[in-house]
Amino acid sequence: MTIVVRPAHTSELAEIGELTVEAYADFMVADDGYAHHLRDAVTRAREAELYVALLDDSVAGTVTFCPQGSPWSELAQPGEGEFRMLAVRRAARGRGVAEALVSLCLERSRELGYHAVVLSTLPEMAGAHRLYERMGFRRVIVPAASGAPLERADGLSHPMQVQEVEDIRQALSAVLGAEP
Ligand SMILES: CC(C)(COP(=O)(O)OP(=O)(O)OC[C@H]1O[C@@H](n2cnc3c(N)ncnc32)[C@H](O)[C@@H]1OP(=O)(O)O)[C@@H](O)C(=O)NCCC(=O)NCCS
Repeated sequence: MTIVVRPAHTSELAEIGELTVEAYADFMVADDGYAHHLRDAVTRAREAELYVALLDDSVAGTVTFCPQGSPWSELAQPGEGEFRMLAVRRAARGRGVAEALVSLCLERSRELGYHAVVLSTLPEMAGAHRLYERMGFRRVIVPAASGAPLERADGLSHPMQVQEVEDIRQALSAVLGAEP
């Protein structure tokens, strides 16, 4: 079993869009419009960094890494990386595909000199939370500056939990400090 993570190729974008919609199906509210954003791998590839994970040469998962300034970034403050739309095909789950994708986002953040990585998630995404916690993410509830619930970039308003990364921040600093 080999997992390879790399930037998505143009020929894979339609498949990645469908994979993302399918992976999020359990969490979707009917007709809330979010599926459109999940499917839109073409725009994510243009406006952020879209990665694909291949499991034994087949497309198995994806993540969207948002560098500073990307319109897909929802939460990142200056000096923070962010990732969104982590999705793994059901048949490929439980083999470390998501872990490889999250590791790539941490690595990209370190390369770009960021001191933290943030992401938003929903309370019911328990499988993802175990992974994040294992990888050092810590949960914080972040009120929007106004005190209003956080608003997603697509304009949908949900009370959201935010995983912020005090520990990762320190870990990244330590790794960066250790490099020549
Ligand atoms: C959450 C999600 C991305 C996880 O993907 P995944 O590829 O199955 O994740 P991993 O394989 O890295 O880790 C999942 C489990 O498999 C285990 N695992 C990893 N590699 C393994 C291996 N080689 N053999 C056996 N088990 C393994 C991990 O320990 C982990 O166990 P846990 O459930 O106790 O935490 C996937 O379930 C998904 O797409 N969910 C829907 C969308 C979603 O919730 N996205 C997150 C939004 S914030």
